[in-house]
Amino acid sequence: MRLKGIVSLIVLGSLSAYYIYEPIPEEIDERWKLMLTNSFFRALSHLADLSELLGVKDYMGVMYFITLAERVVPLSDEHVLVTEERFDGVEVVLYQPQPARPTADLRRAVIYLHGGGWCLGSSRMSPYDMLARTLVTDLNAMVLSVEYRLAPAHHFPVPYEDVYRVVKHFLQKEVLARYSVDPGRIAVSGDSAGGNLAAAVSQQLRQDPDQQIQLKIQALLYPVLQALDLNTPSYQQNRDMPILPRTLMVRFWSEYFTSDKALFRAMMSNTHNGPESAGLLKFVNWSAHLPESYRAKYNYSTPAVGHDRGETAGVPSPDGGPSRAIGDPRASPLLVPDSALRSLPKAYVLTCEYDVLRDDGVMYATRLRGAGVAVTHEHYAAGFHGALMFTVWPTHFAIARRMTDNYVRWLEENL
Ligand SMILES: *[C@@H]1O[C@H](CO)[C@@H](O)[C@H](O)[C@H]1NC(C)=O
Ligand SMILES: *[C@@H]1O[C@H](CO)[C@@H](O)[C@H](O)[C@H]1NC(C)=O
Repeated sequence: MRLKGIVSLIVLGSLSAYYIYEPIPEEIDERWKLMLTNSFFRALSHLADLSELLGVKDYMGVMYFITLAERVVPLSDEHVLVTEERFDGVEVVLYQPQPARPTADLRRAVIYLHGGGWCLGSSRMSPYDMLARTLVTDLNAMVLSVEYRLAPAHHFPVPYEDVYRVVKHFLQKEVLARYSVDPGRIAVSGDSAGGNLAAAVSQQLRQDPDQQIQLKIQALLYPVLQALDLNTPSYQQNRDMPILPRTLMVRFWSEYFTSDKALFRAMMSNTHNGPESAGLLKFVNWSAHLPESYRAKYNYSTPAVGHDRGETAGVPSPDGGPSRAIGDPRASPLLVPDSALRSLPKAYVLTCEYDVLRDDGVMYATRLRGAGVAVTHEHYAAGFHGALMFTVWPTHFAIARRMTDNYVRWLEENL
């Protein structure tokens, strides 16, 4: 009996040591808390792999537990009126300052797009619910949080199109008037995959000849911006970083496009590019667009370009042609020429040193600036991907507070 107890203790002890221990850079604050938090993510990811292998539930189906674990029912309180509606058929959660009756003083508005790799996440998760309330009370703004549909049930371009439909619906004179929103003071913002959608929407709206009301600013929080080169210095440096290791980001990218695992394998080895990518690689050439300090010791090599990716990787294309989705700027907003960047709204770009997506954000900030767009680039030397989500006990981090404060201050000054 005692022996059994000791054996299980040892097994349990080594298992938890295996999950918890992992080298985390000294620069990161609250390292132990991050190790513990990450051990939960890693254990869940292993469980998800196992479940998919055994045919119980697919990987993302198990990972979706993260979303459910933090789920809340957004409720009104004395400061914020919360309602759930549908804009052009897409679910949205609206947060308005109380009292919410129409006023002559028009308000600002923030359209917020949650992160989660297009596969996870929800407006109705407590960190997003809290962030929306902070924006309402600190900015006296209306917040529109979009519950876009998710992959793998809905591959690209469905999540993007859901967001675009909501934004088009909202940016109409009558609709804005109904909520007392100033048409000249509307922002789009999002974190991670939400930053991807925010950047894509900002570009497409500017190119839409029928669109009269435009966005004033875009705020991109550690955004993901390109699928062509998954070996940038930040992808290499942060391959095994907490919260978003390279494997998980590659999973998200491949699942956004297709459930065919061949694309995942090709993306892991950065050999997923087809002939359509050849002319686009210059837009993600980090040897040209990444400031030297971020290039560090890494040497540039052009990603391989295959000839029949469509067949081998099974990448669907929205226009039915050979696999163009990966190079579509609605999926990879970094892949547009400077002429398409020039007219974009003023931008805030947040990047973190310990994040595979760091260079996506840095390159976009660099290219936007080069095209004449006003950019505030805030880089967190001790930051890690997803940090903004960790505002809720027991996984609350001081850096999340700092990031939120700086982000809200920028909105206050620029929206
Ligand atoms: C990338 O940039 C470097 C330096 O600017 C240049 O020599 C190289 O030809 C470029 N490669 C591609 C694929 O654009
Ligand atoms: C990059 O290239 C230099 C010069 O060829 C070489 O010394 C260095 O080891 C390379 N760095 C990496 C990370 O491969």
